[in-house]
Amino acid sequence: MRHLMNPLDLSVEELENMMDLACDIEAHPDKYAHACAGKKLATLFYEPSTRTRLSFESAMLSLGGSVLGFADADSSSAAKGETVADTIRVISSYADICAMRHPKEGAPKVASLYSKIPVINAGDGGHQHPTQTLADLLTIRKLKGGLGNLTIGLCGDLKFGRTVHSLINALVRYENIRFVLISPEELRLPSYIREDVLAANNVPYKEVIRLEEAIPELDILYMTRVQRERFFNEEEYIRMKDFYVLNNEKLEAAKEDMYILHPLPRVNEIAVEVDNDPRAAYFIQAKNGVYMRMALILTLLEVKVC
Ligand code: NCD
Repeated sequence: MRHLMNPLDLSVEELENMMDLACDIEAHPDKYAHACAGKKLATLFYEPSTRTRLSFESAMLSLGGSVLGFADADSSSAAKGETVADTIRVISSYADICAMRHPKEGAPKVASLYSKIPVINAGDGGHQHPTQTLADLLTIRKLKGGLGNLTIGLCGDLKFGRTVHSLINALVRYENIRFVLISPEELRLPSYIREDVLAANNVPYKEVIRLEEAIPELDILYMTRVQRERFFNEEEYIRMKDFYVLNNEKLEAAKEDMYILHPLPRVNEIAVEVDNDPRAAYFIQAKNGVYMRMALILTLLEVKVC
């Protein structure tokens, strides 16, 4: 039985196969409409979510399966003090696969150790968010024709932004990738990722504070929200929250084919005027997330569709 905690749990070949499968699902949805008939997905969300939870549910429903779960830890037995280990032992006999989001780093990993069904990490604290990475990779591959030979700018809260951590893990395995890490000093990428992932894989990167300075050389600009819920102090969040605002004026310096991604939700970091720019790819990215989650569910449940 397989779980997904980190993008590195999937080989590059498996990722490519999953992206091919997602494209086939998008092109021929009817072929997959009953692939998971009789199967159940449990969504255990101990932390707020719109896209991730609903895209998982939409994915399972589009495969002909059904969904159950909770969207709020206070409405689950966690509020009575139940451990994740006990919850998953029980859910293992109610569902065939489970997606878990939790504010504590490593909680889905703990669940996977006690689970009899595949567990998918749907975001654990400021750590990893592998299924967002699946959506990101498919979006980049579709727009750029592949995942190598790219200069990727990651901008905003690189300290707490789990989507950024997972995306870096996944992309360092592709040829000729360079990163430009754009953040204020306070929200720098954690040193364990700079050293153990980027430096250890000889992946070139540079750190800059000003977005304007970085924009001209980028092929992809991945914007992120400042992660308010991970700050210890609200004043610090208020000081940081509008550090970056991408607008049409700043985009004038970008390449014609520099696409803008964002895992969403957006707060202020991308002005609404940018939505009309043909390079704005964040809503397509959210749509790609459903196809990739469908491909992931089929893969983890070992369902083959001919
Ligand atoms: C992200 C997350 O939950 O980490 N959202 C998402 O799943 N698309 C990004 C964020 O909340 O900023």
